[in-house]
Amino acid sequence: KQRVFSGIQPSGTLTLGNYLGAMKNFVTLQDEADCIFCIVDLHAITVPQEPAALRQNTINLAALYLAAGINPEKSTLFIQSHVPAHAELGWMLQCVAYYGELGRMTQFKDKSAKKEVVTAGLFTYPALMAADILLYQTTLVPVGEDQKQHLELTRDIAERFNSKYGETFTIPEPFIPKVGGRIMSLEDPTKKMSKSDESAGAYISMLDDPAVIRKKLSRAVTDSGREVRYDPEEKAAISNLMTIYSLCANKSLEEIEQQYEGQGYGPFKKDLAEVVVSTLEPIQQRYQELLNSGEVEQILRNGAERAASQCSETLNHVKSRFGFIL
Ligand code: AMP
Ligand code: TRP
Repeated sequence: KQRVFSGIQPSGTLTLGNYLGAMKNFVTLQDEADCIFCIVDLHAITVPQEPAALRQNTINLAALYLAAGINPEKSTLFIQSHVPAHAELGWMLQCVAYYGELGRMTQFKDKSAKKEVVTAGLFTYPALMAADILLYQTTLVPVGEDQKQHLELTRDIAERFNSKYGETFTIPEPFIPKVGGRIMSLEDPTKKMSKSDESAGAYISMLDDPAVIRKKLSRAVTDSGREVRYDPEEKAAISNLMTIYSLCANKSLEEIEQQYEGQGYGPFKKDLAEVVVSTLEPIQQRYQELLNSGEVEQILRNGAERAASQCSETLNHVKSRFGFIL
């Protein structure tokens, strides 16, 4: 059985890109694999956070995981800072990772560009992510395309440790969806959809009202021509919208092409809005119910207990490999 681990930062509302690239796959995987999902608050503080907002975002993200279909009976769902092993192994792996390889991370280069202050944590963050994954002998890590480089570094760190100290870590494989691994901005199909975009029209939040979703999608840029055809090179905008349609409606790209043959963009975009609304609306309803239920915190406490017991053996193994006195 596969061991799956993934994490999402509690740094504001998730976008449709987060859902289609990551969370939706988490839900599918939990029926076939042994899954652990984490709210990575230690990662969130690599950039400035308002304490009250971080607290709220953490609970909200937990409710969203559950609303999207993560079942706490099947999967372990917990807050990273509740399990001290993450910070512990994170430190140790900072002493395995090289300064040079961390400096090559494109996400670090992007996030540190034009910033007045850059924390040391933003730089060493991939070592903490490696710790998250390696603590659980993870075999499969479902993430969006933008995390691919961090996954490769995780594998390098694990292999380096294993060859120096002896077999300790399982080498994890990335699980990046072929369709949906990189959902693009609605206003510029050369940029990824991101909640930190200055323009709210560029992304759909998982919590956007149906009316807002319809408006954003009706304004989404299209390409020249009028054919609904999947061609990421020539028709980047329409191909992105087709990807969203395909994943939300569970229809293949070919089926969508056939359905809208000879009809132009209008009817396609109209239906797309309805398909997205009917994907997100039930999640939004369950989300509100969960937040009102007061059950979320207890689920997270139970998850942390389970996670802690699932990783203690590996943590001790690593410590003794280093020569620490247990
Ligand atoms: P983050 O919000 O940065 O913690 O990202 C959570 C997950 O969503 C990660 O697995 C990302 O790779 C994924 N993700 C973020 N943005 C997108 C996007 N535009 N398309 C597909 N996946 C994404
Ligand atoms: N770095 C990931 C992101 O920004 C979040 C993350 C932290 C993660 N630890 C992880 C993802 C472990 C997968 C596995 O999206």
